[in-house]
Amino acid sequence: MRDDIHEVLFSEEDIRRRVKELGAQITLDYAGKSPLLIGILKGCFVFLADVSRCIDMDCEIRFLTASSYGFSSVTSGKVRIDKDIDFEIEGRHVIVIEDILDSGVTLTALCDYIRERKPASLKICALLDKPARRQVNVSIDYLGFECPDEFVVGYGLDYAERYRNLPFIASLKPEIYS
Ligand code: IMP
Ligand code: MG
Repeated sequence: MRDDIHEVLFSEEDIRRRVKELGAQITLDYAGKSPLLIGILKGCFVFLADVSRCIDMDCEIRFLTASSYGFSSVTSGKVRIDKDIDFEIEGRHVIVIEDILDSGVTLTALCDYIRERKPASLKICALLDKPARRQVNVSIDYLGFECPDEFVVGYGLDYAERYRNLPFIASLKPEIYS
């Protein structure tokens, strides 16, 4: 697995420090509010596990599933949302927890879906942002790191369902996905 890595972009230590800061900021901003964290599967699972443990207040944790890439490193432009949700969004202070914002297509579709259900507020917390690839305008309220325009894996992010368990974020050698 580690032989496939080109370069480590964010180390375990970088991530730990930043995630702690994000959690502390959310704790301050939502004082007295009990937010609803909605993790976007599957890429969020490591980030959500860590950031939620740095949010020192009562909160509810739920998940939605979205996929657009299939087994490719380029977005298909079509977003599939698993709409089979069994929880109430109306009136809640929702924070969407996403691994990475690339074209922005996935998050826009998800936010539209959530907004239709009338949350009291809606904010976005994303670990990574690749602004170079944005196709639709999305603003991130809590951002971990800005990421160079490279396909990255690790800390929950996959390529063809692999590498999610790497404890850092890294780019892959080009021959892996070409
Ligand atoms: P978007 O709809 O183009 O913004 O794509 C967002 C989704 O694509 C993310 O939630 C990821 O699951 C996936 N994705 C985008 N860029 C990368 C990457 O560099 N590595 C792994 N997954 C990515
Ligand atoms: Mg993915």
